[in-house]
Amino acid sequence: MANVIVVGAQFGDEGKAKVTDLLARNADVVVRYQGGANAGHTVVVDGETYKFHLIPSGILYEGKTCILGPGMVIDPKAFINELGALMKRGLDDTKLKVSASAHVTMPYHLALDAAEEESRGANKIGTTKRGIGPTYADKCARSGIRMEDLLDKEVLREKLEWMVPRKNVLLERMYNIPPFDAKAILEEYSGYAEQIRKYVCDTSEYIFNAVQARKNILFEGAQGTLLDLDHGSYPYVTSSSPSAGGACIGAGIGPTIIDRVIGVSKAYMTRVGEGPFPTEQEGEIGEMLRQTGKAWAEVGVTTGRPRRCGWFDTVIGRYSVRINGLDCLAITKLDVLDEFDEIQICVAYKDKRDGSTHKEMSSIGSNFKHMEPIYKSFPGWKKPTGDLRSFKELPLEAQRYLDFIADELDCPVAIVSVGPTRDKTVVIEDPIHGPKRVLTKSTQQ
Ligand code: IMP
Repeated sequence: MANVIVVGAQFGDEGKAKVTDLLARNADVVVRYQGGANAGHTVVVDGETYKFHLIPSGILYEGKTCILGPGMVIDPKAFINELGALMKRGLDDTKLKVSASAHVTMPYHLALDAAEEESRGANKIGTTKRGIGPTYADKCARSGIRMEDLLDKEVLREKLEWMVPRKNVLLERMYNIPPFDAKAILEEYSGYAEQIRKYVCDTSEYIFNAVQARKNILFEGAQGTLLDLDHGSYPYVTSSSPSAGGACIGAGIGPTIIDRVIGVSKAYMTRVGEGPFPTEQEGEIGEMLRQTGKAWAEVGVTTGRPRRCGWFDTVIGRYSVRINGLDCLAITKLDVLDEFDEIQICVAYKDKRDGSTHKEMSSIGSNFKHMEPIYKSFPGWKKPTGDLRSFKELPLEAQRYLDFIADELDCPVAIVSVGPTRDKTVVIEDPIHGPKRVLTKSTQQ
């Protein structure tokens, strides 16, 4: 038995879905614990590409319980559409569960997300416009609508009659947007409730019982550590807690049940949306990273926006090891670097204001934009890696590159992905039972 958290160790889009899919094979329960339809997880199986936004990719395996946890925000319309499309392709919903405590994204959240973004002008966050921020804002203000409320028409009516006029004042007066009709929302969303009802339950209790029965639970993070509301590059973050600690709150479990935390990083780095990105490459290199390999075309799965691309950043890597307590790493998309003559890695930052250098970031907040990367250069391997299946088979230059990342982050690399499909994977160590990060002298007091 092992209970494992998989988190994005960069800005999201690290290829977590492929790693989750590999680990889900041995899991009994797969749990999404935060975020909503802003996520875009792509898994390629038997030549078929599946894109997930709300539903855990564990649904690809028969007989796994898949849970949308209490920390999520769920757009019922998006959920029904996504599930409908998956069921048309033959996937089974009998073991799908939705937390009664998850918050519901309502149409006014979507409208507000778009309007607030627009009003920010040059300071926009570059959100996915899936209503994420406004839904979590209502949750924190204690005026949100939870799944359990959606299922009770009288409670929903009462909540909407109070909420909708307030949202309308904001929408009409601040943003000149036509008002919503509480009655129309009530009818439409009560209809969705009837389609979702059979999935809704106390998922925290279900997970607790599964743990007691010594089942394997996989907690699937969406987005990434640098998009974490508390620990990311605030304010250019999402409104939830993708980092490992968020799994406990967002799934309703205690930290004592977690056996392993696995961080997923690309072999380089990307970011969708606005915000600082010290190693971003805007010229030819960025374009080459973006375009390399049609299967990996770097566009956002949810929004279709081109991803900003850059070199691997060990300062961010070390930060993610710390914030998540990572035990080991999965490095994805190594094959994207196959054609490069030279590969760079950021080993430290130089503060543009005073020239000081930093191997660690004390916090990734407003100071972040003043950081300039200091690079170490590696020779490229200039050989295809997609068909290689062991560490020893990888070109020496690629081995050295991976070893350097493991040393700099003081965290073992357990898995390397060399292509989008399940088979294109190099397992160096068993990520769940193999060696894990140990406290070294530099981290002991
Ligand atoms: P929101 O989550 O839609 O509010 O967007 C906030 C920020 O997080 C924006 O920069 C988005 O581009 C980014 N973001 C949200 N979800 C994802 C994701 O799944 N992958 C990568 N970036 C994301």
